[in-house]
Amino acid sequence: MKIDVVTLFPEMFDGPLGHSIVKRAIEKDIVEVNKVNFRQFGKGKHQVVDDTPYGGGAGMLLKPEPLFEAMDSINERDPETKKRVILMDPAGKPFNQAMAEDFAEEEHLVFLCGHYEGYDERIRTLVTDEVSLGDYVLTGGELAAMVMIDATVRLLPEVLGNAASAQTDSHSSGLLEHPHYTRPAEYKGMKVPEVLMNGNHGLIEAWRHEESLKRTFERRPDMLEAYDLSDRDKALIEKWKKEADETGEQVNHTEDF
Ligand code: ADE
Repeated sequence: MKIDVVTLFPEMFDGPLGHSIVKRAIEKDIVEVNKVNFRQFGKGKHQVVDDTPYGGGAGMLLKPEPLFEAMDSINERDPETKKRVILMDPAGKPFNQAMAEDFAEEEHLVFLCGHYEGYDERIRTLVTDEVSLGDYVLTGGELAAMVMIDATVRLLPEVLGNAASAQTDSHSSGLLEHPHYTRPAEYKGMKVPEVLMNGNHGLIEAWRHEESLKRTFERRPDMLEAYDLSDRDKALIEKWKKEADETGEQVNHTEDF
């Protein structure tokens, strides 16, 4: 996979791309990441990339020419690849695991990162996707692009040591992940559940599924709407709902925040 990041702050990417799993993926040539500083396409002696909005108003907007020319330079360097051009935008579609899985299928991703208050609207004609990291405003698109690159690269074949570990991730299966335990079997009076130590893989799988379901029911009930529940799942959920009603426990803790 090829990734281009179009940014005014290429050094910001050195940390996330220079460590751990993403670093190894780059070293193994599974992914190539190029940083394109669009300042080089800025106008005049001062390489200006922004200007005041027509019609007035506060703030500066990114001018169209530097970003169009940055895209031209990428297309000239790699004329053959099919590109997905992703604009970092707090007003875009919220990023999620399904989007990371979709991006991981692509040949060439281009992330456009803005700073300042926004973009000249014509920049949107360059892009295939407008994506937000979440419902908050960052100082620029760089942190959002780093998160999206990280979530995408770890899904590429051969990046994670154990291919199965991406499939059982929270969010990939449609449920949150079940609890995990390692040695020691008992620590500060806290015991590892007996079922995990008896070697019965059928029982272990059933326990893990039930714990995933319960965790999702308790923490992210919204996710269950899109999940294909078995009859047994439905019965378990009914049981937990009844128990929660009896104890007066609040199930959706998100309201606490
Ligand atoms: N730029 C500023 N805030 C952003 C966000 N939440 N997602 C993507 N890009 C952004």
